[in-house]
Amino acid sequence: MKQSIQNHYQTLADNYDQFWGISPEFIKFITQKIIESLNLVPDDVLVDLGCGTGLYSKEIISQIPLNNPILCVDPSGKMLSKIPKSSQYKVIEKDALAFCDELEQYNKILIKEMIHHITDKEKLLHGLLKGLNSGGVLLIILLPPTIEYPLFTKALRTYEALQPHYDDLVTLLQKIGFETTVNFVDYPVSIAKETYFKMVENRYMSLLSQFDDEELQEGLREMEGKYHQYSQLEFCDRFVFIISQVQS
Ligand SMILES: C[S@@+](CC[C@H](N)C(=O)[O-])C[C@H]1O[C@@H](n2cnc3c(N)ncnc32)[C@H](O)[C@@H]1O
Repeated sequence: MKQSIQNHYQTLADNYDQFWGISPEFIKFITQKIIESLNLVPDDVLVDLGCGTGLYSKEIISQIPLNNPILCVDPSGKMLSKIPKSSQYKVIEKDALAFCDELEQYNKILIKEMIHHITDKEKLLHGLLKGLNSGGVLLIILLPPTIEYPLFTKALRTYEALQPHYDDLVTLLQKIGFETTVNFVDYPVSIAKETYFKMVENRYMSLLSQFDDEELQEGLREMEGKYHQYSQLEFCDRFVFIISQVQS
């Protein structure tokens, strides 16, 4: 993992759940979709690759009893430190590529909003295919090529330039030997403007770590100008769910 990204998440760790925890309904809703997409059953061995603070692992366990610990993998020790010490989680402080070399056994993998951090995606996906047994499922969740977030213009353009396109991932997954299905999951977000602006100020997305303090303040001023008549911000949060199965 790049040092700048490592620093970003080490700094964000203390506030990460607080940002997303403001909407437990959102976490519940996305988790239901994760459980359905992975077709999770109690005997599965799940890897949450790039799990961060384990926000979704924690909710998965509250929605479905799993008989095996979730393998929670992330290179950021600070993010991982937010996961409760419990036999329900096996915490692995590792980069995703290094994890692929481990001889862990698993049959379901969740990668949520992490794939954009991987430079050599082909190597990672190859490694995961080798690790998954027949009938295994890999779920990659990422944001679409354009987003409706009420961010400043430079942030939106930078996002569009950097975000991997899900079509390219699908092509790669199929080339490697997965069978894939793509679903779009929409969630209508309504958030207090003040809260959202605080999240941006705290660089809640790694995208925002591309901007220095001055650029961020300028961006916030642009947002203030654009949304001055609103106290509540409303937008659609769209996720791309790529469900990949191991061909038998
Ligand atoms: C946006 S957060 C998503 C966390 C979690 N999946 C979620 O949805 O709440 C991205 C996470 O990917 C992790 N990450 C970044 N580069 C990684 C890599 N090379 N291998 C594994 N995880 C990585 C970061 O440390 C961070 O915790």
